[in-house]
Amino acid sequence: MLAGIGDVAATSFITLYCHALETLSDNPLLSDPKSVEITTELNKLLSPAEHPLDRILVTGTLDSRLVVHIAIRAKKYDDYAQDFLQRFPDGVIVNIGCGLDSRFLRIDNGHVIFYDLDLPEIIAIKKRFFTGTERYHLIASSVMDFDWMTPVLRHKGPFLFMAEGVFMYLDGEDVRLLVLKIQEKFPGSELLCEVVNSFWLRPLLKKILDYKISHQVHLGKDAMFRSGISDGREMEQWHSGIQFLGEWSYFDSDEKKLGWLRLLKHCELLRKTQWTIHYRLN
Ligand SMILES: C[S@@+](CC[C@H](N)C(=O)[O-])C[C@H]1O[C@@H](n2cnc3c(N)ncnc32)[C@H](O)[C@@H]1O
Repeated sequence: MLAGIGDVAATSFITLYCHALETLSDNPLLSDPKSVEITTELNKLLSPAEHPLDRILVTGTLDSRLVVHIAIRAKKYDDYAQDFLQRFPDGVIVNIGCGLDSRFLRIDNGHVIFYDLDLPEIIAIKKRFFTGTERYHLIASSVMDFDWMTPVLRHKGPFLFMAEGVFMYLDGEDVRLLVLKIQEKFPGSELLCEVVNSFWLRPLLKKILDYKISHQVHLGKDAMFRSGISDGREMEQWHSGIQFLGEWSYFDSDEKKLGWLRLLKHCELLRKTQWTIHYRLN
């Protein structure tokens, strides 16, 4: 992996390469040419001989099921963003833990104000490929350093906060503090967040999950999941203003590339192993 990239930040390389592989596949379910451009450049910088993760990325041998899952998720979050922009063409979208994703290019309607926020080491790489403008901003910060909210607060909104594949890497108490802070500062905003089911984070099951993550994609120990919730309505108990609007799981998708995994939608616990919840923060 590139110097200075921690285990959690490295997860963004995996999602980026998934986007690129899917874009180059037959009948792609996601079109993300920017990911192909970025991975072509990163291939020259990674060290396949030294790092198993780099080897998997550069040789394009990421697990094909993971590629399809990540592409379905990206497409679904694009759809959520576009739905928000249909309702509020001048709305403000904050992509929390954006990684090296290029959602802004995929959903730009010519009016949206878009913020990409991630750890400084990821934003430093991202700035090689993206330039900030009046409507597109890059913020290099931990999401837990709430100063990132100051520039966003200059806008009147409405606001949509997206956290695609991020909250599980934060401690549970940090997720709670973050959601409550967004609610306090941006009343009326919408939040879309992917969460892991806390059922799978019980000690023995978590060991199995950690083993799978470290062996499937060779991520270090800091990239293991730290927190989850048991039910989409759990966050409503954190504050009376938090309103559950809906939820979505990968397996709800009728995407043929999911194959037999589509059957998992019939088992609630598996359907909600890792899923997305949509809230209003009043
Ligand atoms: C699995 S990647 C997802 C990236 C992107 N959302 C996507 O789906 O392609 C998780 C991202 O969360 C970011 N992240 C994790 N903890 C963070 C924090 N405390 N503050 C900001 N970003 C964070 C990581 O750096 C990484 O880019």
